[in-house]
Amino acid sequence: MALTIRVVILLIIMSFVVLQQKGDAQKHKKTEGLLMNCRFDKIYQLGNSISDTGNCLRESLCGTHSSCRRFPYGINFFHNVTGRCSDGMLMIDFIARESGLPFLNPFKDRNADFSHGVNFAVAGATALSVESLAEKNIAMSFTNSTLSVQLHWMSSHFKSISSPEEKLKKSLFLVGEIGGNDFNYGLSQGKSIKELRKMVPEVVQTIIHGVKRVIDFGATRIIIPGNFPIGCVTAMLTKFKTNKITAYDEYHCVKDLNSLARYFNHHLQQAIHEMKKKYPNIILIYGDYYNAYLWLLRNAVSLGFDKNSLQKACCGTSGKYNYNTSRTCGAPGVPVCVDPSTHISWDGIHLTQEAYKWLARWLIDDILPQLNCQV
Ligand SMILES: *[C@@H]1O[C@H](CO)[C@@H](O)[C@H](O)[C@H]1NC(C)=O
Ligand SMILES: *[C@@H]1O[C@H](CO)[C@@H](O)[C@H](O)[C@H]1NC(C)=O
Ligand SMILES: *[C@@H]1O[C@H](CO)[C@@H](O)[C@H](O)[C@H]1NC(C)=O
Repeated sequence: MALTIRVVILLIIMSFVVLQQKGDAQKHKKTEGLLMNCRFDKIYQLGNSISDTGNCLRESLCGTHSSCRRFPYGINFFHNVTGRCSDGMLMIDFIARESGLPFLNPFKDRNADFSHGVNFAVAGATALSVESLAEKNIAMSFTNSTLSVQLHWMSSHFKSISSPEEKLKKSLFLVGEIGGNDFNYGLSQGKSIKELRKMVPEVVQTIIHGVKRVIDFGATRIIIPGNFPIGCVTAMLTKFKTNKITAYDEYHCVKDLNSLARYFNHHLQQAIHEMKKKYPNIILIYGDYYNAYLWLLRNAVSLGFDKNSLQKACCGTSGKYNYNTSRTCGAPGVPVCVDPSTHISWDGIHLTQEAYKWLARWLIDDILPQLNCQV
């Protein structure tokens, strides 16, 4: 008798676990459209290639070096190159759409309509200044449009509008993701993880300083995203490939790199927490890209991704991860997978529209309660 009860209880628990896993994917559709309740009239974005919708493309050096300006970038949805480093829409595009707003135009598109906000993000941009990185012997590759440069653009944009403070009360600001490239460049230029950890406080302070400037411009609702679990990124998996099984975590991501990202995220969250005390009337929200990404990896198969391609680039060639740094997406003859929507990684560094769609979904669910929007 007792045994039967135990078995029944076990079965109930097991089916609950299964139901919960299924429900997880379902649940993330229930808040669809709710961002509209926030009635944002404008969105402003600062950042790098995760959110650039066409600034790098319009800079001379960046524009000629970035592979994101070439076919097959943009083959999905836009059916043309836009400067977005993906096959289609980015997270910021989904956020704008869910807010009921048009896509953000890039600041560098001088003739564009900025009545619903501006995108200042530039692919390749860092949080630290060129000088500060140079002191650490880290060279920028193809853009100098760092966070402070983007803030300068923002300042000049607001100066061109009369009484901007009043007009920014209904605006949403995203400061980042930025800072990831500071570490990416360091890693690709031979810095040790220990050296990069030492950079964390300065990168975080630079971002927080940027958030303060944005508040001075009149922002009242600000999202500050952290870094992705970079040890799960295809290019990193390729670069740090090893036979040492202990180097990987349960998702087959490089532990040391994820630990660096967590260290950075922890510092950023601490700094945001401190800032909230100083600015009780400003809504400051940490954008948890790290956990959004792990959620996506965990649920990838039930969300329709191919279980054999979770860490392989869709557009790329050769090796375990279909990524070769000397022949990347956009170079002549580099193939594209049949169905990008079955892949998380688009080009080994950036993600597919399908992956960004789910990350944006998770993120919106996570930030909505914190935004306090009235129905
Ligand atoms: C594709 O984009 C280019 C550059 O922005 C533009 O000149 C061209 O007209 C676009 N083509 C289509 C078919 O939209
Ligand atoms: C970035 O700045 C450095 C010096 O400040 C300059 O030499 C370099 O040409 C600049 N690069 C770009 C892409 O503007
Ligand atoms: C990567 O591409 C280069 C240049 O085409 C080639 O020489 C090399 O063998 C490739 N690496 C792998 C692992 O296939």
